[in-house]
Amino acid sequence: MNNEKLIKKAITAMNNAYTPYSRFNVGCSLLMKDGNIITGANIENASYGLSNCAERSALFAAYSQGYRKDDIEVMVVVGDTKEVISPCGACRQVINELVNDKTKIILTNLENKQMVVDKKTLLPFGFTNSDMQK
Ligand code: THU
Repeated sequence: MNNEKLIKKAITAMNNAYTPYSRFNVGCSLLMKDGNIITGANIENASYGLSNCAERSALFAAYSQGYRKDDIEVMVVVGDTKEVISPCGACRQVINELVNDKTKIILTNLENKQMVVDKKTLLPFGFTNSDMQK
């Protein structure tokens, strides 16, 4: 699976976003170790705070199918932004828990600008379950 195909899948998901309020579509695709691709888009709600970002839609779908952090090789996030898309703080917290250190996270836009990061770059000094054990 090459990155371009994975990015195309994220763009397809982006086009399926439900965004009657912001009109800002975001797509996410995950390449799993078994070759499967799981996608997600942002889904909004009239009660705005209940909206779900593309990253969380995709990760929750993957976990719902039984996958876990070590199964996720690559994560692509795409939006129609000037620079590469920047995941929100809530998603950084969720990404930090649900992917592993080696997961390659590709942030991109429709002009194919790309930035490759890992979860620690997105969320340095993040709160995790180990912080609850003294
Ligand atoms: N959004 C995402 O889905 N992912 C991001 O990385 C940034 C923001 C969504 C949330 C909301 O539906 C819309 O974009 C505008 O904030």
